[in-house]
Amino acid sequence: MATTAIDVQQLTQKVSDQEIQERIVAAKKALGERVMILGHHYQREEVFKHADVSGDSLKLSRAAAASDAEYIVFCGVHFMAEVADILSRPEQISILPDLAAGCSMADMANLANVERAWRELNEVLDAESKVTPVTYINSAADLKAFCARHGGIVCTSTNARNVLEWSFSQKEKILFFPDQHLGRNTGYNMDIPLDEMVVWDFDQPMGGLTAEQINKAKMILWKGFCSVHQMFKPEHIENFKAKYPETKIISHPESSFEVCQQSDYVGSTEYIINVIRDAEPNTRWLVATELNLVNRLHEQFKHEGKNVHFMSPMVCMCSTMFRIDPIQLCNILEGLVEGRVMNQIKVDATEAEQARLALARMLEVSP
Ligand code: 13P
Ligand code: SF4
Repeated sequence: MATTAIDVQQLTQKVSDQEIQERIVAAKKALGERVMILGHHYQREEVFKHADVSGDSLKLSRAAAASDAEYIVFCGVHFMAEVADILSRPEQISILPDLAAGCSMADMANLANVERAWRELNEVLDAESKVTPVTYINSAADLKAFCARHGGIVCTSTNARNVLEWSFSQKEKILFFPDQHLGRNTGYNMDIPLDEMVVWDFDQPMGGLTAEQINKAKMILWKGFCSVHQMFKPEHIENFKAKYPETKIISHPESSFEVCQQSDYVGSTEYIINVIRDAEPNTRWLVATELNLVNRLHEQFKHEGKNVHFMSPMVCMCSTMFRIDPIQLCNILEGLVEGRVMNQIKVDATEAEQARLALARMLEVSP
């Protein structure tokens, strides 16, 4: 059943923020253990506070797989709710409060252009015996299924190194999509030289590469990127450090190679939180990841004298994560109390079965 925009509009006009918060709490209480709310770290505070489990993509995938709840309400983006549907039992229902909450990076690779790349690679080498396809979890379910069909695997920002090690134990090369930066940053840390990591431009025939470049490459990196993390620049670090030389730099691996090279720590959203939480009091941090998380870290740790700063002088939020608002969450939960399921994310059964295999391979090699 589709969300009724009218419900949302009526709620917007008549009800205060405070009342919405109270109604979310009441609906959640009425549903009890029948519902589990998962919240990604980039969610706005008024939504995030209602999460039963918060985390990065790996932690939330595991939480969805372990959940016994009838309804898994995913306050995150579309691929996350798809993974929750794939990893949960068939009778459980995965819900995304706003169906337009996608991931612009995930949209940079689709089955048609990945299949074309695979065909074109096959013109140069025997891709099936030489290349492991690896998809970042920030991708549609059909790409995870593609990886499963071709001996490949899924990764997250937490387990990318383990996944690449597994992939190289299977075949000599990797086709990594959609995020070139996570691929490059991880490959470089595994001692793969930059000139053995080539970029596949999906708008060009043969990815814009020569047969020689493809044959020489260890990693073929899809030309995808995150529009939020590409905003962070080395000069932001240099300018900030000129003022506060003691600053520690911590970045998400979707940031550019240059930013990650200048960082003291690089890791997933959960890793960033843990490093700052465990740091000495009275320390200063410059963080390259999404604004809602950085603001939360600042608020959470300022009483310890930790100064947590956002890396870019420009505001760069993930606009799709931000689409999930308290009114929609309230609407979804009140619907469930009345027995109405809205915004269910259901992956096609065959696709889900294959994608589950690629995710299972990932979970097996994850730390
Ligand atoms: P994490 O898995 O590190 O939370 O990253 C997800 C994401 O989309 C970052 O932009
Ligand atoms: Fe996608 Fe970037 Fe948003 Fe993460 S921050 S969900 S990669 S658009």
